[in-house]
Amino acid sequence: MKTSDLETSVVESAYARWAPVYDAICGPVMVRGRRAAATAARAIGGRILEVGVGTGLSFDDYDASTEITGIDLSAPMLEKARAKMASGRYPHVRAVHLMDAHEMTFADATFDCVVAQFVITLVANPEQVLSECHRVVKPGGRIILVNHLYSEVGIAAAVERWAAQRTRALGLRPEFPFARLQAWASANTGAILVERRKVAPFGLYTLVCFERAPLPEAA
Ligand SMILES: C[S@@+](CC[C@H](N)C(=O)[O-])C[C@H]1O[C@@H](n2cnc3c(N)ncnc32)[C@H](O)[C@@H]1O
Repeated sequence: MKTSDLETSVVESAYARWAPVYDAICGPVMVRGRRAAATAARAIGGRILEVGVGTGLSFDDYDASTEITGIDLSAPMLEKARAKMASGRYPHVRAVHLMDAHEMTFADATFDCVVAQFVITLVANPEQVLSECHRVVKPGGRIILVNHLYSEVGIAAAVERWAAQRTRALGLRPEFPFARLQAWASANTGAILVERRKVAPFGLYTLVCFERAPLPEAA
């Protein structure tokens, strides 16, 4: 099934509406997926970029072994993240920036790990965002995604297809297939799919991890 990607303006206005209620609604529902991604990122440690950091719900999942930078397209979502930073509870969070993941201003190979939690399925051009993540992660570093991905078969797939057109104005996209992520990696030399696994609860979310191929050793 092929449906169109979301438009950036739709995402921006949807998350302006989500911002005041996001933590209360999406905090508990997505917590297991968020933690699984942060645990995988902590295993790498160092400089971590959170793409689509939102209200900073993931700040609790990192510690002093990491240095977190966040970016997001939505000023109202980032306002919430900045309020969390101002509490002083997250010294490991270095900065959050208003920035579009399609065109990041970071230099090549800046981060040890790039994490995108519940983001890649709703950006306007997922392949471009993946390529930007690949550009800013260091060789040998990883890109970790967690999302609900399209079930492809059975009742869940039928429900997702039905919901697809009805949830777009909310900045949601329940019908995004794993095959698209795989196709991006196949088309990009140096992007290696290293992990794909279901995450609790009920395998609702999928964690996908790509590695940027390490540089060849000098002869
Ligand atoms: C479902 S929320 C996830 C927020 C956070 N990662 C979490 O797990 O709670 C998606 C976030 O991605 C952001 N986003 C969407 N498109 C983006 C883009 N092109 N660049 C940066 N952020 C984007 C939205 O503004 C929103 O804050």
